[in-house]
Amino acid sequence: MSSKKLETALVQAGRSRRYTQGSVNSVIQRASSIIFDTVADKQRATANRTSGALFYGRRGTLTHFALQEAMSELEGGAGCVLFPCGAAAVANTILAFVEQGDHILVTNTAYEPTQALCTKILTKLGVTTEWFDPLIGAGIADKVRPDTRLVFLESPGSLTMEVHDVPAIVSAVRGKAPNAIIAIDNTWSAGVLFRALEHGVDISIQAGTKYLIGHSDALIGTAVANARCLEQLRENAYLMGQMVDADTAYLASRGLRTLAVRLRQHEESSITLANWLAQQPQIEHVFHPALEQCPGHTFWKRDFLGSSGLFSFTLRKRLNDAEMAHFLDNFAYFSMAWSWGGFESLIVATQPEALANMRPEGHVSFSGTLIRVHIGLENVEDLRADLAAGLQRIA
Ligand SMILES: Cc1ncc(COP(=O)(O)O)c(C=O)c1O
Repeated sequence: MSSKKLETALVQAGRSRRYTQGSVNSVIQRASSIIFDTVADKQRATANRTSGALFYGRRGTLTHFALQEAMSELEGGAGCVLFPCGAAAVANTILAFVEQGDHILVTNTAYEPTQALCTKILTKLGVTTEWFDPLIGAGIADKVRPDTRLVFLESPGSLTMEVHDVPAIVSAVRGKAPNAIIAIDNTWSAGVLFRALEHGVDISIQAGTKYLIGHSDALIGTAVANARCLEQLRENAYLMGQMVDADTAYLASRGLRTLAVRLRQHEESSITLANWLAQQPQIEHVFHPALEQCPGHTFWKRDFLGSSGLFSFTLRKRLNDAEMAHFLDNFAYFSMAWSWGGFESLIVATQPEALANMRPEGHVSFSGTLIRVHIGLENVEDLRADLAAGLQRIA
């Protein structure tokens, strides 16, 4: 990110004159075909098609290049590959590096479709997944094998928000399998609150659908890679036909401009509400990385530059179906929806036994219902009152 402060970098990144052509924002260049005026132009474009020359729509247009350049700068990578959604970024990153007979290590708190990719698709290709506890730290060395090809992290963990000790994991993996690729689903940090590549990770993936887009109206995936991994990732993605339309790439670039102020508000409001929830008698535990009671909080404090707005908490009791409906159906400001990272507040609930099914070789340490909230940009007192009324409904 050079010496610029984050807010400045977010405003400026990817806005060179080549991409804006004199306006404030990058142009939206919709194209499949790119026209070459001469044979020499075509030869030049072919030679430079992976380094910023306009060649063919699937290799990207000025709109895509602007976003890719911005993301590489912001996350400190050698380049950025774009995907039609976060799930595509995860799947294609893993598929770009594994082959039959390989062993991979994946956190057992990975986003559920990431786990399903391993159990339903990678198994068919002869790639074996071994799961690890998100708090394993240096202990991962015991699981790394000579044929370990890739280690997949996600921090904080899906739903239960455990924060990895990434430096300890990276150093243990490098010590035993220097060629293994280490990738992380870095969506919660929006790629800027945890500088994964500086911590030794090879590829930082985001469901840009969340904080980059920021308005819940489009899907995109990004993967920022270091020099060691970029070419293989980019060329595999190209062969797998991974591309996103120019309009969506533009929306992601536009989202960057307000990301710092949005994140600051998500952080402030989510910590206020997490602390308040932690004091409510109906609540057993609050899983917010910024709270001491969150597993891995010390690693968040040491390694992250801030917090976003997604966290969870467990109730002391397991809600029955009627209580669940009464609780969730009547919020004024929290909508019930998957996803997160937009300007709006969201709420979903999971029962402990359903969560246990999503934790391969792991265990779930609580017996009450787990509630996950995304704290949006509404007034925090309105949100507090909404949550208080919700807790009152199930008192
Ligand atoms: C942590 C995480 N990674 C990846 C994804 C997938 O992103 P998308 O919905 O854009 O495919 C999600 C979506 O909820 C997510 O929460």
